[in-house]
Formats: sequence, C-alpha cells, structure tokens
Amino acid sequence: MTDLPSTMRAMSLPAYHPEVADAVRALEIVERPVPEPKNGEVLLRMLAAPCNPSDLMLLQDSYGVTKSLPCVPGWEGAGTIVRSGGGLMARAMLGQTVACGGQGDFDGTWSEYYVAKADSCIPLIKGLDPVQGSTLIVNPVTALAMIDTAKTAGSPALINLAAASQLGRMVIMLAKGDGYPVINVVRRPQQAELLRSLGAEHVLLSTSDDHDAELGALAQKLDARVALDPIGGARTGQVLKAMPKGSRVLVYGALAGEPCGDIDPIGLIFEDKHVTGFWLTSWIETQSLLGLVMKTRALQKHMLAGRIETQVQAKVGFDGFVDALLGYLDDMTAGKVILDPSA
Ligand SMILES: NC(=O)c1ccc[n+]([C@@H]2O[C@H](COP(=O)([O-])OP(=O)(O)OC[C@H]3O[C@@H](n4cnc5c(N)ncnc54)[C@H](OP(=O)(O)O)[C@@H]3O)[C@@H](O)[C@H]2O)c1
Repeated sequence: MTDLPSTMRAMSLPAYHPEVADAVRALEIVERPVPEPKNGEVLLRMLAAPCNPSDLMLLQDSYGVTKSLPCVPGWEGAGTIVRSGGGLMARAMLGQTVACGGQGDFDGTWSEYYVAKADSCIPLIKGLDPVQGSTLIVNPVTALAMIDTAKTAGSPALINLAAASQLGRMVIMLAKGDGYPVINVVRRPQQAELLRSLGAEHVLLSTSDDHDAELGALAQKLDARVALDPIGGARTGQVLKAMPKGSRVLVYGALAGEPCGDIDPIGLIFEDKHVTGFWLTSWIETQSLLGLVMKTRALQKHMLAGRIETQVQAKVGFDGFVDALLGYLDDMTAGKVILDPSA
C-alpha cells in the first residue's frame, strides 16, 4: 500500500450564498484527514479539477443536489488511484489515472485526495493530458448526449444557445464531424468571431435588432426542431416561438438565473411545442456501462486529437483559486479555471 499523509488540503464551503461572487469569496482552504475508501471505492490523488457552472450553482445552493455544510465542492476531476477500499474492480484499478466525478452529499474533487466509486472512474487513454481528462465527464458527455437526443427526436438540425461556452463549442465540433447542421446563437460579437474561426457555419447574435426573425427564418429553413438552452429566462419562450411546429427546447442550464418565461401557450396547445429539461446524471442512468465506456473512449480520442478541447484560462493551486474563480465570473468564455492541488 502506498505511503500516504494523514491529512490533506481541500477547498471548503462553510455557508451557501445566493450571490455567486460572495459564495466564491467565502471558500476557505482547510486541512482535513485523508479519507478512507470503503469496499468498491478508490482513493485518488487529484491531479486536476475544474470549476463548472454546476459548481457555482452548488455554492449558491441553487443546484439539484445539496451537500451538508461545510463541504468540499467539485463535481469532476482527474487523479491517480493510490488506494483501494477492496473489491475486484477497485483493486484492479490501482495505479491508473482516471477521470472521476459523482454527485451526492459527500466531499467533492476540489481536494488533494478524493474518494470515488471504482465503477464510476474512467481510465484516461495514453497521452491524454490530465487537465483535459479532468473535464471529460460534465461537458463532453453532455454535448454528445444532447446531440444524440436531437437526432433521436428526428430533428434535421439543432439550435445551440450560448454557443461560445465550452460545452457549446463541443456541440459545434462533434456535430461538424457528423455533418449535422447547427444554428449557433451568442450574445457578443467577439463570441461570433470565435465560433466562425472554429468553422461554425451559422452564427447569430442574440442582441441584433432582427434576431428573432433571423433565427425563425433559419430554423424553418433547416427544420431545426430541437434547441439546446443553457440560459432559461425569457430566452426559452422567445426561441420556442421562433421554431417550427413540433419543436422542443431542451433546457439544460440556468445561466440567466431566472425562471423560463415568455412561453406562448398557443404554441404549446396548437403547434405541438414543448419545453423539457436535460440532466446528465439522469441520462447516464439510462446508459449501459459498456455503452458509456465506448462513448467516453471516443470522446477521449477526440480530445487527444484536439477535435474537442476544454479551453483553460487559469491552472492554479489552492492559494490562487478564489482569485482565479472571480476572474472566471468576469469572463466565462475565456475558459475554465483548473485547480491543481500540487501547485
Ligand atoms: N444539465 C446538465 O446535465 C449539464 C451538464 C453540463 C453543463 N451544463 C450547463 O451547460 C452550460 C454551459 O456550461 P460550460 O461549462 O460550457 O460553460 P462555460 O464554458 O463556463 O461558459 C458559459 C458561457 O455562457 C455564457 N453566458 C453566461 N450567462 C449567459 C446569459 N445569461 N446569456 C447568454 N450567455 C450567457 C458566457 O458568456 P459570457 O462570457 O458572455 O458571459 C459563456 O460563453 C451551463 O449552464 C452548465 O450548467 C448542464
């Protein structure tokens, strides 16, 4: 068994705060005992862990899962398995570098060591940078799953809102590889340029005067009957209204921080329009273990080849983490903040 320290550093949230910047400033560096994995679990020495919007939602207590306080946030990351809690799979994985994640009332990945269920760990393929690997689960898998959902719904194209997000860019790249048309919507001209530089064909600016008409015309032309909406608020109803009959807005984020609105009941009643939600955790439960292994392997190959990539604006240790997160709040499009516990 590897010699391990008895204590470790972790980022701790002492209290929830509705204002996200207050929540980030409240984070504290704490010293804690290194946790012991139980049967079927493994202990990881963490190499990298990102902050995603879902982590910010946890800090605000606006996510669908709540942790008892104080808690260690962080829904995903990558690390090396240094101890097994017992069980065939956990023992077999000793020494492997894996992507990990999990949602529930237990300590998260913003830590030097993290306990994960062995069967939820995804071995990283040879050559893949652990920083990219630390972002494998939340965004790439969601992008893939939502494209599959749109195709299964029979929609010949999809609408990608807030398309300059890391996930939005992955939707563009994965759909491009399949020749699947995507209408991308962003709110800033710089984001439109960024997406065009990635080869995106259809890019619309939500702040332009004729945006709704432009979106409606293109959605009708391409018969885009699924929209991926991470914003909520009035955008949900505005986009649904612009879409053809039989369309569906898939709400998967709450970036506006407001309830979905402006939904025209006439569209719901007479045009067979729908608003539904998407949550990766629920989608994963519908998948077989083998299917997930194959899908995450394919995504890793895309990452290794640079076809999809998580942009990183800062990779920092515990001391610089809060300042870097405040920078991320000012410019989310610039990329993720990655916690590197060894820095
Ligand atoms: N449901 C699920 O299972 C699931 C899984 C994964 C991700 N998600 C969601 O996917 C979304 C994107 O995640 P990510 O990690 O890719 O984000 P990210 O890289 O941090 O980027 C967020 C993007 O959203 C834009 N944005 C923020 N607030 C906005 C608003 N009110 N209106 C329009 N655009 C806005 C930002 O643009 P600016 O730079 O202009 O602010 C930025 O481009 C998040 O909402 C996240 O919660 C959901």
